[in-house]
Amino acid sequence: MKAGLTTSLGFALLGGIGIGLALSRARPPFRPPPDSAMPGGRLGAEIRLGEAIFNDPRHQAAAYVGNDLRCADCHLRAGRQAGSAPLWAAYVAYPAYRRKDHKVESFAQRLQGCFEFSMNGKPPPLGGKTLVALESYANFLARGLPVGPHAQGRLYRPISQPTTRPSYASGARLYAARCAACHGGNGAGLMANGTPVFPALWGKDSFNWGAGMADINHAAAFIHAFMPQNAPGSLSPQQAWDIATYIDSQTRPQDPRFTGNLAATRHLFHDTPFSTYGLSINNHVMGDPAETPPAGP
Ligand code: HEC
Ligand code: HEC
Repeated sequence: MKAGLTTSLGFALLGGIGIGLALSRARPPFRPPPDSAMPGGRLGAEIRLGEAIFNDPRHQAAAYVGNDLRCADCHLRAGRQAGSAPLWAAYVAYPAYRRKDHKVESFAQRLQGCFEFSMNGKPPPLGGKTLVALESYANFLARGLPVGPHAQGRLYRPISQPTTRPSYASGARLYAARCAACHGGNGAGLMANGTPVFPALWGKDSFNWGAGMADINHAAAFIHAFMPQNAPGSLSPQQAWDIATYIDSQTRPQDPRFTGNLAATRHLFHDTPFSTYGLSINNHVMGDPAETPPAGP
C-alpha cells in the first residue's frame, strides 16, 4: 500500500519532470549571428579584427602568444560551437567568481587567462587593441542572448564519470591508433610552411600546465565530444578519459604561477584528482623544472 503510493507519487513527479524537459527542449538553441550580419564602420572593423585574432593569434596578437595554437583549436567554429566553450555563452556569463584565482573576474580578465595559460603567452593589457577586438567579437556573437551564467551550451559538454580508473597504458595505445596520425606520435602536431595544420597536444609548443586543457576532466570532455576530428563521437567516455590521462601526463611548458616548489605549487593551484602536476608518472615528475620547457614570453 505504502509502496504503491510512493510509486504513483514517483510517476507523478517523473511526469512533471518530463513536461519540464519537453518544454525546455522545445526552446530552440541559441544561434550566434552569421558573419554576414557584422556591422560596418569602426565597430565592424573591431569585430572582424577580433575574429581574425581568434583564428590566428600567432600572427594577429604575436606579442602575447608563446605557441602555435589558435583559440579556435579548442573553441571550435571560431568560438561558435555549443559545448566547446563558445564565446557567446562566455560573454554573457561575466563578471564571475573563479576558484582558480579566488576572485571575481571580468570577461576581459578571463580572456587574459587564456593568453597566459592556453597560449603559453602573457596577458594583453586591459583596454588595449587585442582585448577590445576580442570583446567586440564576443559581444557580436552574443547578440540576442540573455545575460546570465547558464546559457545552454556554455563550457565543454560534461562527460560521464569513467567506469574504471582511467588508464595511462590504455590511453597510450588508443592515442597511437586514433590520434597520432594527425597530432604526431610525439604530440607535437604538424606544421606546413610555418602554418599549423594540426595543433600540438604536449611539448614546448603546446598549452602550459596552468591551462584548462591540462586538467584531465576538461580534456576528456573535449575529446569525447569532438575528437578524433575525422570521426567525432566514436570514442566511449572511458576511452576519452584514458586518452586524456595519457595526454595530460606528458611534458609541457611550466605553469607561470610556479613558486619554485612543485609541492607548494600543486597545493596552491593543482590540488585536484584531474591534475597530474607535481606527481611522479613513469619516473618523471610532472612540471619538474629540469625536464620542463619554460613558461612563454
Ligand atoms: C588548448 C586549448 C585552449 C586554447 C588554445 C584556448 N582556450 Fe579558452 N578555454 C579552454 C578551456 C579548456 C576552457 C575552460 C572550459 C571549461 O571550463 O569547460 C577555456 C575557457 C575560455 C573562456 C571562458 C569560457 C566561459 O564560458 O567561461 C574564454 C572567454 C576563452 N577560453 C577564450 C579564449 C581565447 C580568446 C583564446 C585565444 C587567445 C583561447 N581561449 C584559447 C581551452 C583553450
Ligand atoms: C584528422 C585529424 C585529427 C585526428 C585524427 C585527431 N585530431 Fe585532434 N584536432 C585536429 C584539429 C584540426 C584540431 C583543431 C580544431 C579543429 O579544427 O577541429 C584538433 C584539436 C584537438 C585538441 C584541442 C587543441 C589542443 O592542442 O589541445 C585536442 C585536445 C585534440 N585535438 C585531441 C585529439 C585526440 C585525443 C585525438 C584522438 C582521439 C585526436 N585529437 C584526433 C585534428 C585531428
